[in-house]
Amino acid sequence: MMPDTITASSSGKSRSAVRVKELSERDRRRLLMHFLALDDSDRLLRFGTVLPDELITRYVQRLDFSRDAVFGVYDDNLRLLGVGHLAFTPKEASPTLTNATLKARIAEFGVSVASSARGMGIGSKLFERAAIHCRNEDVDTLYMHCLSSNQTMIHIAYKAGMEIHREYGEADAYLKLGPASPGTMLAEAVEEQFAFLDYGVKANTKAALKWLRKLPSWKNK
Ligand SMILES: CC(C)(COP(=O)(O)OP(=O)(O)OC[C@H]1O[C@@H](n2cnc3c(N)ncnc32)[C@H](O)[C@@H]1OP(=O)(O)O)[C@@H](O)C(=O)NCCC(=O)NCCS
Repeated sequence: MMPDTITASSSGKSRSAVRVKELSERDRRRLLMHFLALDDSDRLLRFGTVLPDELITRYVQRLDFSRDAVFGVYDDNLRLLGVGHLAFTPKEASPTLTNATLKARIAEFGVSVASSARGMGIGSKLFERAAIHCRNEDVDTLYMHCLSSNQTMIHIAYKAGMEIHREYGEADAYLKLGPASPGTMLAEAVEEQFAFLDYGVKANTKAALKWLRKLPSWKNK
């Protein structure tokens, strides 16, 4: 079972500066920009097929924020560097997983990080947040599907203690999660609060810079 938080990578890099925020309806446009910026090979890894722009647009339009949880990491310009989608489904919808849990739902996780922001711990932090969110939502089975060639994702899954089954060039990874506790509830609430404050600072800085750039004295620089 994975630890409650992983604060450093195996290479010793700190992950504490990566803030993961739960996204909402107002992020749909930013989500679309994030996914459309993925190149063909990343679309293949993320969606299992090279999804064309129209289908990516439809996927983003159909994201249901009231049913699923979508997490993001913003840069200073409020662009989404990374996105994790935790889709909750009734366990009966996945016949292979029906016997894996006594809970009513299971969760499937998909993640993508902008190519310019990889190797900084964003993918791992999104995964950790998804796992703790599952526990707090009374879901004990986290599932992930990826290509067996996706060494980076398999590394993240393995590090988190996931059980990995490889077949025909594809890999299914499962993680059994413990129940929610006051610790997991607090950890998620604190993370969300930090991410909210971080977002506020970035939004205010961006607005202030926009205003400053309109001043004649700035234009003459
Ligand atoms: C998979 C992906 C989300 C990882 O995001 P990321 O932010 O770069 O991930 P992190 O920085 O948290 O971690 C990367 C880890 O993989 C390791 N890694 C990188 N390349 C690797 C490789 N070729 N083989 C094995 N491990 C590798 C890094 O060393 C790091 O390990 P560490 O944390 O122990 O130091 C990102 O590469 C991506 O968006 N890929 C395209 C979409 C995709 O594959 N999605 C997953 C399927 S749902």
